[in-house]
Amino acid sequence: MNTNRYPKGLESIQTPFYYYDTDLLRSTLACIKNFENSNEGYYVHYAIKANANPKLLKIIQEYGLGVDCVSGGEIQASIDAGFDPHKIVFAGVGKSDWEIALGLDHDILCFNVESIPELEVINQIASEKDKQANVCFRINPEVGAHTHTNIATGRAEDKFGISMEDMEKVIRLAESMTNVHFMGLHFHIGSQILDMADFEALCDRVNELQDRLEKENVKLEIINVGGGLGVDYTSPETNSVPNFVDYFSTYRERLKLRKGQTLHFELGRAVVAQCGSLITKTLYVKEGNQRKFVIVDAGMTDLIRPALYQAHHKIVNISSEAETTDTYDVVGPICESSDVFDTDIVLPTTHRGDLIAILSAGAYGETMASQYNCRPFAKGYSTEDFKD
Ligand code: LLP
Repeated sequence: MNTNRYPKGLESIQTPFYYYDTDLLRSTLACIKNFENSNEGYYVHYAIKANANPKLLKIIQEYGLGVDCVSGGEIQASIDAGFDPHKIVFAGVGKSDWEIALGLDHDILCFNVESIPELEVINQIASEKDKQANVCFRINPEVGAHTHTNIATGRAEDKFGISMEDMEKVIRLAESMTNVHFMGLHFHIGSQILDMADFEALCDRVNELQDRLEKENVKLEIINVGGGLGVDYTSPETNSVPNFVDYFSTYRERLKLRKGQTLHFELGRAVVAQCGSLITKTLYVKEGNQRKFVIVDAGMTDLIRPALYQAHHKIVNISSEAETTDTYDVVGPICESSDVFDTDIVLPTTHRGDLIAILSAGAYGETMASQYNCRPFAKGYSTEDFKD
């Protein structure tokens, strides 16, 4: 193999599969933890929707992060992996009754509530259990995130959250309820955000809303700014750890935390994207009239991001020793014309049997896989599986 990025023995595993570099995951987590520890009141919750592979969860849990969940299944997976339930925050526009009950039974830190009907149901279920549900309201800050439209949120017309206009009304309603305890505000402006100006705009908005609420004598214990920090999909090898320095300093410098307040982050992609590769084998190299296709055994069922968001993941041939190159479209075997990983990319001259790695696939890869075409799920292996 022409790279030292992957361990020996990888070539004998049935493809396609995910390979997770857990050394990189650990150094990414150490970096996050360092920022958390050096900023009083900062708490990072891992957005488990990015990757719920138990091997990764076990490691993330060791670093003491909390979890951001959007379903009962995610709450259960977090608890099974050993995360502290008191560090779980639970968001989502459509929480089912059993999911709310599960959160209450485990005394999670807080429900991020997205509508009045949901608040009423939480109050009801909590009263049946004779419990207090901690709630934050997810407010749409109307701060435009410069990212793909499918992953931008927090605009006035999104299905998520509550408008700024209704903020005081929902808080008053919560305060009048017997079984909910209002704790603060939650925001999330989108995902794969690389421009710190978007996070600055969010900070400005939060400051403005806090000032507004203080005049009404409303105090916030928690401010949760969601996730969204992006990663470098173009040069993942050189930028393997996301820009946490600028990210956390933006919040430290710009957001005016009040005494005793805690600031919560829900990072998903930034934690796990760069440690994962989808490893796939070249089945055929097909020469069309105009284009050459590298047909691989992984498809959109294993990694849907290129098909769904026109995302580009760096693709490398990790077994070729060829000195010549060629231009290819890299495509999967699924019966959908959108099953294309990328077009017009330059690879070493590629042959049947060559191993191809699709990089930065640790976030929203395995978790978004499907079994369309009756395909089995790709397994996940980690660095630890190759250590003697
Ligand atoms: N908090 C909330 C409320 C969210 O909705 C999300 C992501 C996160 C945190 C974590 O965001 P992150 O730090 O990972 O950007 N499947 C898409 C991304 C969807 C993100 C959904 N929400 C993709 O593959 O790009």
